[in-house]
Amino acid sequence: MADLLIDHAERVMTLTFNRVDKKNSFTAAMYAEMADALTAAQADDGVRVGVFQGHETIFSSGNDIADFLKTPPLSPDVPVFRFLRAISSFTKPLVAAVCGPAVGIGTTLLFHCDLVYAGDNAAFSMPFVNLGLCPEAASSLLAPQRMGYGRAAEALLLGDPFSAEAALEMGLVSRIVPPTQANALAQRQAQKLAAKPMSSLLQTKHFMKIGQAKAVAQRLADEGAVFGQMLGQPAAREAFAAFMGKRLPDFSKV
Ligand code: COA
Repeated sequence: MADLLIDHAERVMTLTFNRVDKKNSFTAAMYAEMADALTAAQADDGVRVGVFQGHETIFSSGNDIADFLKTPPLSPDVPVFRFLRAISSFTKPLVAAVCGPAVGIGTTLLFHCDLVYAGDNAAFSMPFVNLGLCPEAASSLLAPQRMGYGRAAEALLLGDPFSAEAALEMGLVSRIVPPTQANALAQRQAQKLAAKPMSSLLQTKHFMKIGQAKAVAQRLADEGAVFGQMLGQPAAREAFAAFMGKRLPDFSKV
């Protein structure tokens, strides 16, 4: 079975992460498929809404660490950065259903979604510092805005996870439901959106986003350049080696 399922039904495109044995971590191939799917959907009048969903036990554990080490994202044209540009500039509504862990880009991609529904088992985290990295997906800009600086600092500097309730309170999530109901709710809401006048949806999202579109694009590029460099540095190498070796990292020398 493919790692990413792409379905089109009733003017809704659904991307389902389907790599549960590796906790839905994203490979370069998955990023490329997601970037291409979003680019095609952007241009296709038959698609009005996009949905991201995972499994009721896991949304995504973020970048596939082994894949990242094999093909580090060192240029703006690599799949992960193509995906981030595609999702952040997507002009049609995006809906997400999140259950279980949403790690790294599993959380930061949600800053670019319009409606996020969470299972009560959702656990969000952005542990970039713990990995010797810096934020991505413009999360250094969007997390403080959405969460307030204090909570963003706990999430980004300490790498503390936060619950579905906390995400609801800060407005990252629109509603919490039992995990078995999250994907179905996201689909229903997407179908509701798809039945509305497209021009009104497009204009409304445009006006909600336009105030900071340039700043988001610039931050994506700036973070991406530093993130790529940091991947090759000793701190990230130690963090990734520790994860692969199923041990705790030792940052005492970095
Ligand atoms: N990249 C590559 N493989 C990953 C992965 C990732 N991001 N996340 C999980 N996996 C793999 C594990 O190596 C393991 O593989 P194995 O069965 O061959 O040993 C399998 O998925 C199951 O993961 P495991 O850690 O045993 O599951 P868990 O339920 O105990 O924990 C998580 C789930 C998501 C909390 C944990 O896997 C995790 O923290 N992953 C890393 C997240 C991360 O740091 N992401 C940011 C990357 S930039």
